Amino acid sequence: MRTDKKVALVTGGVGGIGTATCRKLAAEGYFVVANYGIPGTEAAWKKAMADAKLGDDAVALAFGDVTDFAAMGAMVRQVEADHGPVAVLVNCAGITRDTTFRKMTEDQWHQVIDTNLTSVFNVTRHVVEGMVERGWGRIVNISSVNAVRGQFGQVNYSAAKAGILGFTKSLAQEVVRKGVTVNAVSPGYVETAMTAAIRPDVLGQIVGSIPMGRMATTDEVADAVAFLASARAAYITGVNLPVNGGLHLYQ
Ligand code: CAA
Repeated sequence: MRTDKKVALVTGGVGGIGTATCRKLAAEGYFVVANYGIPGTEAAWKKAMADAKLGDDAVALAFGDVTDFAAMGAMVRQVEADHGPVAVLVNCAGITRDTTFRKMTEDQWHQVIDTNLTSVFNVTRHVVEGMVERGWGRIVNISSVNAVRGQFGQVNYSAAKAGILGFTKSLAQEVVRKGVTVNAVSPGYVETAMTAAIRPDVLGQIVGSIPMGRMATTDEVADAVAFLASARAAYITGVNLPVNGGLHLYQ
């Protein structure tokens, strides 16, 4: 469906933070396209969007593997042909393969680097040129508190998320005069399937260390993303916005 609304593309859009971000951006008037890479994972997203009663001209899905540069090129071209130019890009696709470094396989390293970091190149590269040509764009990259803090069992994940921060600041400099802002949001521990997979005793220790004493809701992260994606954040670029219940207070 071609739309008069600004189009927002959210990679990993059917995950926990992704779904909340889609809902929030759609409620704020964007036409939101949720990318997903694993067939069958979109069911909960469809229900969440239906429950939110956003109307007909609000959301769509786009299948594609974020680790595949050519596939992302084809997906972006299709999204733009179907709905219109991408004005907002949220790079949210991410996985964990937590294990101590001494047990980490080459595969676990590459899966996380490819999905969490190379994906940001793979999608942004196909979107940024159009934003620059049109003189308006918002790119929001989802990093993590563990990018700068490190985390036992997350050498691969922390490296990828720290890479996103360098990517964000560097690209922000390159497009700062072109009407395109590039920012990061670094969530702490959020109520998602990703944190539900942490061993209960380990998760208990982690939650106990959060100054606010609880995990974030996905909506609390989506609010930060929506702000940076909005016209209200026009003068903000190259920043990292932590949303972590105070975990950054002790970094
Ligand atoms: N600090 C120091 N030492 C630790 C430790 C810690 N945090 N945790 C465990 N150890 C020690 C253990 O005491 C043990 O020592 P010994 O060998 O002397 O007995 C040794 O390290 C091995 O520990 P485990 O047996 O626990 O190792 P494991 O392989 O069973 O578990 C792990 C490793 C699965 C990675 C587990 O540590 C873990 O789940 N860590 C949490 C990872 C995490 O925070 N993931 C976040 C997912 S959510 C997310 O990523 C979103 C986001 O952005 C925040």
